[in-house]
Amino acid sequence: MSTGRGIPEEVIEAVLRQHDIVDTVSKHVHLTKQGKYMKGLCPFHSEKTPSFTVTPERQIFHCYGCGKGGNAIKFRMEIEGLTFPEAVRIMAEEAHIPYEDKGRGYGDSPRNQELEQLLQAHEWSSKLYHYLLKNTEYGKPAMEYLKSRGFTDKAIDTFQIGYAPARWDTLVQFLDKRSFELEAMEKGGLLSSRQDGSGFVDRFRDRVIFPLHNRSGKVIAFAGRVLGDGQPKYLNSPESKLFTKSRVLYNLHQAKNEIRKTGQVVLFEGYGDVISAWEAGVHNGVATMGTALTESHAAILRGMAEEVLVCYDGDSAGQAAALKSIPILEGAGFHQVKIALLSEGLDPDEFIQKYGAERFCHQVLDGAVSSVKFRLIYLRKNHILLEEDGKVAYIKEAMPIIAALTSPSEREIYLKELSADLQVSFESLKQECNELRTAMQKKADAGDNKPERWNNGRHKKGQASMPTLLPAFHAAERRLLSFMLQDEEVSRYVGERLGTNFNIEDHVAIAAYLYAYYAQGKNPDASHFISSLHDERLEQTVISIAMMDTPGEWTTQELDDCIREIQKVPLLEQIKRKKEEMVSAERAGDYMRAAQIASEIIALERQ
Ligand code: CTP
Ligand code: MN
Repeated sequence: MSTGRGIPEEVIEAVLRQHDIVDTVSKHVHLTKQGKYMKGLCPFHSEKTPSFTVTPERQIFHCYGCGKGGNAIKFRMEIEGLTFPEAVRIMAEEAHIPYEDKGRGYGDSPRNQELEQLLQAHEWSSKLYHYLLKNTEYGKPAMEYLKSRGFTDKAIDTFQIGYAPARWDTLVQFLDKRSFELEAMEKGGLLSSRQDGSGFVDRFRDRVIFPLHNRSGKVIAFAGRVLGDGQPKYLNSPESKLFTKSRVLYNLHQAKNEIRKTGQVVLFEGYGDVISAWEAGVHNGVATMGTALTESHAAILRGMAEEVLVCYDGDSAGQAAALKSIPILEGAGFHQVKIALLSEGLDPDEFIQKYGAERFCHQVLDGAVSSVKFRLIYLRKNHILLEEDGKVAYIKEAMPIIAALTSPSEREIYLKELSADLQVSFESLKQECNELRTAMQKKADAGDNKPERWNNGRHKKGQASMPTLLPAFHAAERRLLSFMLQDEEVSRYVGERLGTNFNIEDHVAIAAYLYAYYAQGKNPDASHFISSLHDERLEQTVISIAMMDTPGEWTTQELDDCIREIQKVPLLEQIKRKKEEMVSAERAGDYMRAAQIASEIIALERQ
């Protein structure tokens, strides 16, 4: 049985069985038990009172604030920014569920064969470069260069570092012999076209090669570094079908377990930094690749950790980049963003080579400061604090940062530091801060788009929060579907009496899917049923229905009442139409017709 998305039904079933919703969610949300439910702060929108609910019994989550909901797969998709097939593949891997990854789960279209070829070519090339570095004469100078920089054999193996010789056709020959299509290899970034269009040459020549992997550990691109001081220092693969810089993070495949385990990720700027830190025992480090941090990067990491430690170079470019990363990381919802401070303009790699692993971990990483503190330190550098003007200017720039903090004790801490630092009285700073807060508040109220409004959780979209306001038939339909989700017998009972004659279009569809679902011999399981829907809106409706507090027991009396309520609607509509017809017949003076319609209405009302 296939799901129409190329993933075998059994795999989805096994994934949902192995990944308990509470375990899955608990990695990101602190849940507390409340009767049948678990509650916590929603990870998908900012709120102060918990409206995010997990129901272990039904293996689903739902937020009454922002309306998001689904099963464990859906949670991972949302929190890690994955597609459905990606989430299933990762979760299957984690649970050691055997999963023949035919065409990467998308079927065997030509496009996928092309991707498959390109992946294989990268894998082969990576092995070749690594071999050439370690075992051949060609690789000697590169090996010496790496050793002189402190790279160990172990690191060279762990990161599959290689060497591309100073020739034009090493890879061309190698790929050609293995019948790879050279044109496709050029498009995929492994080769370059000759200027005169007469064929292909190697893209990477005489460079140390760092393979770049995707999250599941497949090689998708390369970075080549010159030996020594040439330009450009790094030559990277171009963007390709496999490689999107804005979404790929160096070493994520090896660091992901440690990141999840510790709830923390360390973010570096360079390959060398990640590698040296790894050797120093930091196994939760990743790096962007010659690009600034993007929102996608941040979202991917936020899906795996709550805390991020930015460890960029100590020079002014690195510190400026760290400053820029703060709003991106905070915007992605990290609970804590810390910044490491490196002395003497060193980068982490240089620091470790110079001062050792011990000092790096204890001084640099453990000594990292909060994002607020970092912004204050950063600002401070631009002012000459010996002069009064400098002090005043610094306070003016620092105050909005402190005033924006919601926690009074945090504000107090920073104000006290500022007071001691500048020899200005705490009282006057505090007063200035409060005045600024009042002004900010006014502005925010006028702007009318404060995120706080989400916090209320009461008047928010999503049908789940307002079932009491629904017309009786609508509530009856939801109630019936809720019983049907829990019990196959109810589904059969309703199927025989009502079929798909629900009045709300989505309910018609859900009932139809549910009949089909049970017809396949499946057991009641809201979480699993959702996976068979392939429709975001239907999924959300089912979730909100499954979250209803209907008791497990039912009586036929109750079911019949609901069915009657539902069947009444078309009759009532018919009666309404007839009444309108009657009125217009009377107006037209056709009293015979009006009398006939009146008797029809009476008959309908009896029904
Ligand atoms: N980078 C790049 N292209 C360049 C220079 C830098 O893609 N021409 C990227 C690389 O990902 C590099 C990162 O930016 O790792 C940081 O640059 P830099 O600090 O200059 O390099 P290091 O990583 O320190 O490299 P090395 O230690 O080998 O000097
Ligand atoms: Mn560097």
